[in-house]
Amino acid sequence: MRSSMPSTSPSEASAGDAPARSRRDSLLAARYRVYQVWRSLLARPLDAADHAILDATLPAAGRALFYSMTRNDQRHSLTVYHALRERGCADGDLLAAALLHDSGKGGGRVPFVVRPLVVLLRAFAPRALDWLARSPRPWFRRPFYNAWRHAEIGAELAARAGLSPRVVTFIRTHHQTNGPAAELHAVDDEV
Ligand SMILES: [Fe+2]
Ligand SMILES: [Fe+2]
Repeated sequence: MRSSMPSTSPSEASAGDAPARSRRDSLLAARYRVYQVWRSLLARPLDAADHAILDATLPAAGRALFYSMTRNDQRHSLTVYHALRERGCADGDLLAAALLHDSGKGGGRVPFVVRPLVVLLRAFAPRALDWLARSPRPWFRRPFYNAWRHAEIGAELAARAGLSPRVVTFIRTHHQTNGPAAELHAVDDEV
């Protein structure tokens, strides 16, 4: 699932995008993202080949972090992994980051129902999203806060799980077009 969420605030991100994208394009993009969210209910369970990839790419604590994600986010992460491999990527740290880049959404931190709301608010009411995501408190803000900051949250979780500093950096920067994980970002934006 495309999940480009820059580290800027939602309203800043929208202001930067606005000149390049018409309102119609925004509507179509938002509609597609919402469709992807609902499609995610049908995500295929992991099979033996998927588990073999996980065993070969992540340490035990990294796999536990992977399994903390929803089935759809697990499938999405594997899709990003395969897309990188198809582009010739053989960087083990980048491939590990592909499997964990959205792990900040795991553990119920970004409930399913919040995801289409984030997509729609980002497209049509970025200031409202900015307001909702500015703090983890009170309770109703927390899912939006987590959604907007899942790259940083995932990086902290990966560091605690003992992943290498390079993997942690890739996760933290996976929304940056020209950052250290630019290749991961490009693939994440396509699948
Ligand atoms: Fe992401
Ligand atoms: Fe992603």
